[in-house]
Amino acid sequence: MQLFPLLRPLLFTIRPEESHGLTIAALSALPRLRMPDFDPALMISIAGVDFPSPVGLAAGFDKDAKAMAAMLSLGFGSVEVGTLTPRPQVGNTKPRLFRLAEDEAVINRMGFNNGGQTAAIARLTEARASGGIIGINVGANKDSTDRIADYVEGVKAMAPYATYLTVNISSPNTPGLRGLQDKGELRALLEAVNAARPAGGPPLFLKLAPDLDRNAIDDVADVVAGRVDALIIGNTTISRPPLRSRHAGETGGLSGAPLAPLARHALSAFRVATGGNMPLIAAGGIDSGAEAYARIRAGASMVQLYSALVYHGPGLARRIANDLLLLLRRDGLSSIRDAIGADCR
Ligand code: FNR
Repeated sequence: MQLFPLLRPLLFTIRPEESHGLTIAALSALPRLRMPDFDPALMISIAGVDFPSPVGLAAGFDKDAKAMAAMLSLGFGSVEVGTLTPRPQVGNTKPRLFRLAEDEAVINRMGFNNGGQTAAIARLTEARASGGIIGINVGANKDSTDRIADYVEGVKAMAPYATYLTVNISSPNTPGLRGLQDKGELRALLEAVNAARPAGGPPLFLKLAPDLDRNAIDDVADVVAGRVDALIIGNTTISRPPLRSRHAGETGGLSGAPLAPLARHALSAFRVATGGNMPLIAAGGIDSGAEAYARIRAGASMVQLYSALVYHGPGLARRIANDLLLLLRRDGLSSIRDAIGADCR
């Protein structure tokens, strides 16, 4: 019997940010659990990194690298911590996180609240020693006078502790940050970051907004070729598809089920724009094996999720991994590798 559906109404009586804080505290206090064994059919490789499962935890859940081991043991094939900025910052004023239960969605305007990169390093060192794939997502401080310099600093500081690094320029909650997705700024950013990358260091992923139009997607595709190892498509949206919840009008980024159609569309557009030559990681409203499988068939090498955990509970990553195996078998495919982009051929 699943316990989560019974506990959910109780958890939802607690304000979302407090409930998240309690969850992180509980997960970080857990004794070290064994990592699950994944079926080899689930393994995928991106830029030389072997991910044991294509189901990853998206950034923002474990901003300060406190619950990595617990999330890996719950069945995620990888955990992306952060966004971590060079200096600690408190983020926006509360309330800044909203559950849209009727829509199975979340709106957040957290604003990169985090304890800073230096404070995370001790925990990352310990977690890395026990294995598991840990991506580190870096960002710029809100009050930074040179945002590119913040990314350069983040890449240099965090490279020794990361299996992969993500440059996140798609949070809608740091004013002006998404401007780094414009062609000229993006080129300058990626040139600076690449110059700072240590030789033989971890691969570099770039996380983008799902709100880019066709022209912007073509521009990004041009600039990223040869400069990053994968794209994450994508972050939360500032658009508002029809929503039923009373919090629908809150400012911030929308995630969860209503983001799925937009995220699917953006994924397909990036697949076309990059000609299938750039690994893509899908995120946005992924809440089932069927949805994860559809994104993989549409060109994603792997998926990430966050919001669906709020509505479907901590067993979700494992259920999706099991369902992916059933879907592969149904379609006569022997591995996830064979499913990547199967609907694009
Ligand atoms: C996020 N997300 C996010 N992404 C990121 O790169 N850095 C961050 O700090 C955060 N913070 C954050 C906080 C909260 C409360 C949420 C809900 C989301 C975005 C997240 O990683 C993901 O890209 C989107 O939420 C879309 O996926 P889901 O949530 O629909 O599965």
